[in-house]
Amino acid sequence: MLTRSLINIESGRDAGDSRPAENDSLVGEFAHDLMRALASQPRAISPKYFYDEQGSQLFDRICELPEYYPTRTELGILARNAEDIASQMGPHAEIVEFGAGSLRKVRLLLDAMDRPARFLPIDISGEHLARSAAALQDDYPGLDVQPVVADYTQRMLLPAALPGAGRRVGFFPGSTIGNFTPPEALHFLQVAGQVLRGGALLLGADLVKEPAVLHAAYNDAQGVTAAFNLNLLARANRELGTRFVLDQFAHSAFYNAPQQRIEMHLVSRRRQKIALGGECYEFDEGETLHTENSYKFTIESLRALAMRAGFRPGPVWTDEDKLFSVHWLHAPA
Ligand code: AVJ
Repeated sequence: MLTRSLINIESGRDAGDSRPAENDSLVGEFAHDLMRALASQPRAISPKYFYDEQGSQLFDRICELPEYYPTRTELGILARNAEDIASQMGPHAEIVEFGAGSLRKVRLLLDAMDRPARFLPIDISGEHLARSAAALQDDYPGLDVQPVVADYTQRMLLPAALPGAGRRVGFFPGSTIGNFTPPEALHFLQVAGQVLRGGALLLGADLVKEPAVLHAAYNDAQGVTAAFNLNLLARANRELGTRFVLDQFAHSAFYNAPQQRIEMHLVSRRRQKIALGGECYEFDEGETLHTENSYKFTIESLRALAMRAGFRPGPVWTDEDKLFSVHWLHAPA
């Protein structure tokens, strides 16, 4: 039943923003955003550019690291509570997954659900999405799988509800919400609330904890997270023809306790110049490019944020050590 042609939803961008949603234009967008990052002070770029083919592979390796607890902890929470979660969903529910990675986690839900009606994975990368959706479809031949190519941080239109369908349940695992600044997270939840009206959101959020545990998770002994961070520069070299010398930049990740977030930066090891788009940008020794924030939450802070976006908090599932949380949030009516 897989809809072979990917649906490309016009995502309601602001007037004057003429960027098309196709994958190719991401190269132009990367060049534009990297130039803007290099021209600003402090220098910062969106972590979405980590995830080209090689970055996605490095991220998959991060998820297997002994220090990186979020993936295995969330999988454990979902596996242990799948029946409880499925009963919240009710019969004939459909799942809308925001940002479809390997689609490993959703299988735990699909296996426990009472006759799931449809699965709508949304991702900005059509190629990656088509591959993981096809693999899932192979394993769930009776399931209606409809991948949607869209930027889920913008307003988006989804296919209408199926006749006789149960709840529409959003799924946003992995604490990806932590990549947003608080105002961006609020905006995402407001957009999700509109799409999920009358249904619910199942949201994974990493929890505030002992800084040493957080520090280790983003400074693994094998250096995979460092390679993931540096891949941003490697990707620029591949796609934009820059000549970043990778060992002239150091991986830096630390917990910013007052802001309750891990920050990742690339630190220039010396004074150096970078050419891009006809401009020349200078790094002083020690100057950084800020590549990622990963916000951590308390159960209460996450619920308060969701309430500001119109959600009504329901059950929360967590692990024994309170490392990670999975929230059931009722969408606005
Ligand atoms: C995919 C955003 C949840 O913040 O932990 C892993 C990405 N960065 N190691 C996270 C990441 C460095 C990850 N998220």
